[in-house]
Amino acid sequence: MKELFDLTGRVIAITGAGGVLCGAMAGALAKAGAKVAVLDLLEDAANKVAKKIKSSGGTAIAVKCNVLEKDTLESAKEKVIAELGEIDVLINGAGGNKKEATTSPDLSFFDLPADAVRFVFDLNFIGTFLTAQVFAADMAKRGQGIILNISSMASLSPLTKVMGYSAAKAAVNNFTQWLAVHLCQNYSKNIRVNAIAPGFFLTEQNRFLLTDEKTGELTPRGRTIIDHTPMGKFGQPEELIGTVMWLLSDASEFVTGIVVPIDGGFSAFSGV
Ligand SMILES: NC(=O)c1ccc[n+]([C@@H]2O[C@H](COP(=O)([O-])OP(=O)(O)OC[C@H]3O[C@@H](n4cnc5c(N)ncnc54)[C@H](O)[C@@H]3O)[C@@H](O)[C@H]2O)c1
Repeated sequence: MKELFDLTGRVIAITGAGGVLCGAMAGALAKAGAKVAVLDLLEDAANKVAKKIKSSGGTAIAVKCNVLEKDTLESAKEKVIAELGEIDVLINGAGGNKKEATTSPDLSFFDLPADAVRFVFDLNFIGTFLTAQVFAADMAKRGQGIILNISSMASLSPLTKVMGYSAAKAAVNNFTQWLAVHLCQNYSKNIRVNAIAPGFFLTEQNRFLLTDEKTGELTPRGRTIIDHTPMGKFGQPEELIGTVMWLLSDASEFVTGIVVPIDGGFSAFSGV
């Protein structure tokens, strides 16, 4: 049974791995024996995660890249191959929302700046698309590989306030299915593409929406989320790991084109 989930020696590139959720994934995957490339726009954040992994005996490198600039993705890929070997797995984790693209009492839907919405859409969707183009090209040549996209609860039914983010993550789900079929039909049955849709995890991108900046108490939105989550809590990054290991290992070898909610039951609950 252990062999089914074995990731020893697999080379795994993770974008956004300088951040909270993908940083936790990077650490756990390195502990499982994978060689991890920590890709992020913020070099310091990537270095910090890679350093932590190395200091606990794992294998990791930090690589700066911008998922919106294809040339930086190409050079990041070359660096990973040169230092760790051919890439077995890509996790598309870079993403997030932006205050300027979020409706609020001070910013109505009618005043949402297109630039801010475009930024959020590009970061979450175009960033996933461009990174997949660059990394899947090698997977297509080798006839094997795994891609895991990071979607969100906002993709299944849109969340209030975050219109651009919801639309972008819905596009990520659709793209996950499209790419799974395309790579299988045209390149290899051994290339799989799946996504996870995490529920609500308290991180820097959503802290201002879920907790009060001054008191740290839940906002009405934070309270609504907890009330709508049968398990009655926000998720902890470590709670993503089991599902991620399943999707990246041979344990899921007949699984492609799916989006797995990891949400404490949020998406199953109608509210009554
Ligand atoms: N936190 C949640 O509750 C939650 C829920 C569902 C989905 N997600 C998704 O999970 C992923 C990780 O989110 P997180 O909560 O860990 O956020 P985070 O802000 O902690 O991490 C995101 C990382 O992406 C990096 N990044 C931003 N723009 C980039 C770019 N252009 N190129 C490369 N890297 C870039 C940032 O520097 C940061 O390190 C995101 O796709 C997010 O949308 C988060």
